[in-house]
Amino acid sequence: MKKKIALIFGVTGQDGYYLSDLLLKKKYVVHGIKRRSSSVPTRKIEKYLNNKNFHIHYGDITDTSSIQNLIEKIKPTEIYNLAAQSHVGVSFFTPLYTANVNAIGVLTILEAIKNSKNNIKFYQAGTSEMFGKTLEKKQNEKTTFNPQSPYGTAKVFAHQITKNYREAYNIYACNGILFNHESPMRGENFVTKKIVSSLAKIKLGLQKKLVLGNLYSKRDWGHAKDYVDAIYKILQQKKADDYVISTGKEYTIKEFINITAKKLKLQIKWKGKGLKEIAIDNSGKTIITVSKIYFRPLEVDYLKGDSSKARKKLKWKSKIKIDQLIEEMIDFEIKQLN
Ligand code: NAP
Ligand code: GDD
Repeated sequence: MKKKIALIFGVTGQDGYYLSDLLLKKKYVVHGIKRRSSSVPTRKIEKYLNNKNFHIHYGDITDTSSIQNLIEKIKPTEIYNLAAQSHVGVSFFTPLYTANVNAIGVLTILEAIKNSKNNIKFYQAGTSEMFGKTLEKKQNEKTTFNPQSPYGTAKVFAHQITKNYREAYNIYACNGILFNHESPMRGENFVTKKIVSSLAKIKLGLQKKLVLGNLYSKRDWGHAKDYVDAIYKILQQKKADDYVISTGKEYTIKEFINITAKKLKLQIKWKGKGLKEIAIDNSGKTIITVSKIYFRPLEVDYLKGDSSKARKKLKWKSKIKIDQLIEEMIDFEIKQLN
């Protein structure tokens, strides 16, 4: 049987961590790309570095020659593009950079695949942020995109160009449209990680206050481990296609805080409204406040996915519930702090 060789752009991030684990267990040879950094870019994936089937190379998806050279050298059978400037809020501060990585970077990979003599399957990490401001109660593959940020807008380009290359050049290229997924490996400045990490520190007396932005947007939060299963399945179908991956349940940021606080046995009471809203603990100390610096120029108020297609065609469904997700994130945080 032909050896399966995966090339992962974005291997050093949250999803890269879980996807590497899955592919190594499936006996793939896994190649990942790291960017030059002044700190340690492979911190999350350290445990794979001594695996003989895991290889790391320098590269960057904004560097055409590095992408072409890597694809020619590695000869992957599957490419997973997880690489992105993935923070929606930051994309308002770095719109050109975000577009360069999240849109043009994807086209650069697709061009290299088109020009390669090898048959390469391609996965593009699309997002529910592409739906943006939507009137649909549940969003699926047929829902119109209406992105509300440079991040979401660049991802729509990536989605569409992936579809174009599939149809024009007969490339096995797929889009996953993934709703928010979290884990202990989540980046520090996403809201779930920020909440769990800060409340755990507050509980242990290591931090005084958590400052957040909009508490009332709703998100459909799953677990990254479940979601990389879906990513893998998307590339194993007879025909290339696009799929929405979600739990179908939504919570506000405030609800996420309340569940986390309860699990940490932190009693909190909410007071006030708008920028004056606060949460106090049982001694009357203010432990959560709201600041406008964390509000975005445009917000996506509501996301809730309909994954019926993935359930039917991929036989995939989200298994890990929000309670279990939060418990796992808390346990990880407490272990780190201890
Ligand atoms: P993440 O933790 O922020 O990881 C992003 C990865 O992309 C990191 O490995 C990062 O490298 C890499 N990267 C950034 N710019 C790059 C460049 N120019 N060249 C090469 N690599 C680059 O994100 P994630 O949560 O794992 O998400 C993975 C993908 O899924 C992203 O494309 C994201 O937009 C998309 N997505 C995520 C979610 C979610 O809820 N997590 C939902 C839908 C879609 P460094 O480590 O060097 O920064
Ligand atoms: N990051 C952050 N920090 N968000 C905050 C904060 C804060 O202090 N306070 C409130 N929020 C709100 C944001 O305004 C947003 O409505 C919500 O919390 C979630 O923010 P993030 O955790 O940053 O995630 P996101 O939904 O914007 O984007 C994530 O999910 C997308 C899929 O829908 C990222 O992973 C994207 O890469 C991904 O595509």
